[in-house]
Amino acid sequence: MNQAIADQIKRLAQKQNALILAHNYQPPEIQGIADMCGDSLELSIKAAETEAGVLVFCGVHFMAETASILCPEKKVLLPRADAGCPMADMVTPEALKEKNRSLTGVPVITYVNSPAAVKAISTVCCTSANSVKVANSLDAGEILMVPDRNLAAYTAAHTDKTVHCWDGCCPYHERLTPEMVRQVRQAHPNALFMAHPECRPEVTAMADVVTSTSGMLNFANQSDHSEFIVGTEVGLIYPLGKASPGKSFYPASDRMYCADMKKITLADVARSLEQLSGEVRVPEDVRVPALSAVKKMLMLR
Ligand code: 13P
Ligand code: SF4
Repeated sequence: MNQAIADQIKRLAQKQNALILAHNYQPPEIQGIADMCGDSLELSIKAAETEAGVLVFCGVHFMAETASILCPEKKVLLPRADAGCPMADMVTPEALKEKNRSLTGVPVITYVNSPAAVKAISTVCCTSANSVKVANSLDAGEILMVPDRNLAAYTAAHTDKTVHCWDGCCPYHERLTPEMVRQVRQAHPNALFMAHPECRPEVTAMADVVTSTSGMLNFANQSDHSEFIVGTEVGLIYPLGKASPGKSFYPASDRMYCADMKKITLADVARSLEQLSGEVRVPEDVRVPALSAVKKMLMLR
């Protein structure tokens, strides 16, 4: 890591009363300067609880938007405006309204990987860490889940409810096929296979555990096993190694690489902090209904 720029970021963060949050997929040097790293659920909780006046979000756009929904009084900065999530772009409010008309208004569970305007017309949000709990909390036999069809399939397999799904997915998790898993298992026969629920159902069916990114960090740390195949974005290999030194982690596929998650550099963080640039703010007419959906999720803890 470039120590001079890391020191500069520390000074600027102090001066601006800023907290730096980083997603578990961020590059090592970004995780190294963050006050907290975590999965989407943990980062939302931290954003809701902190006293800091400025939040620098090192992740992708929907994460900064969620922080802005939760803390309108804070300045939420995304150091790179073009760090987006292709899956979040697969659903729009107009298309969701259209679909829900055909389903005669069933409750909608919206994955946090979605635009604020979609959260605003949803019943409740979920993350990869709590989708089953959220589905079970609803007093309805039928639900619609957007935008990830794979998370919807995983949730459907773990509830008694009828789950209608949207035809979206993460293009990088979708790349992992059962054949790839078989090959990497052959190469590492003693390893446990951890899969993210954004993987295809045929892949999650092969996993020893299906969980969020932080769920994988905890599972590997607490397990008696010492080798793991990692069925999620390759950035997770770094925090896994840091949290469980001495254990071995093998990517299920090098092709599970999310370019958007690698856009933010240390220089971007320093510039954003210095100029308070890259602010993400959700307009009140969207924020207030979106907050209701996000809060319902957070209350389930
Ligand atoms: P987690 O909430 O499990 O960290 O996942 C976020 C994400 O974008 C997965 O692709
Ligand atoms: Fe979105 Fe997939 Fe990247 Fe996660 S890994 S931010 S779901 S594109």
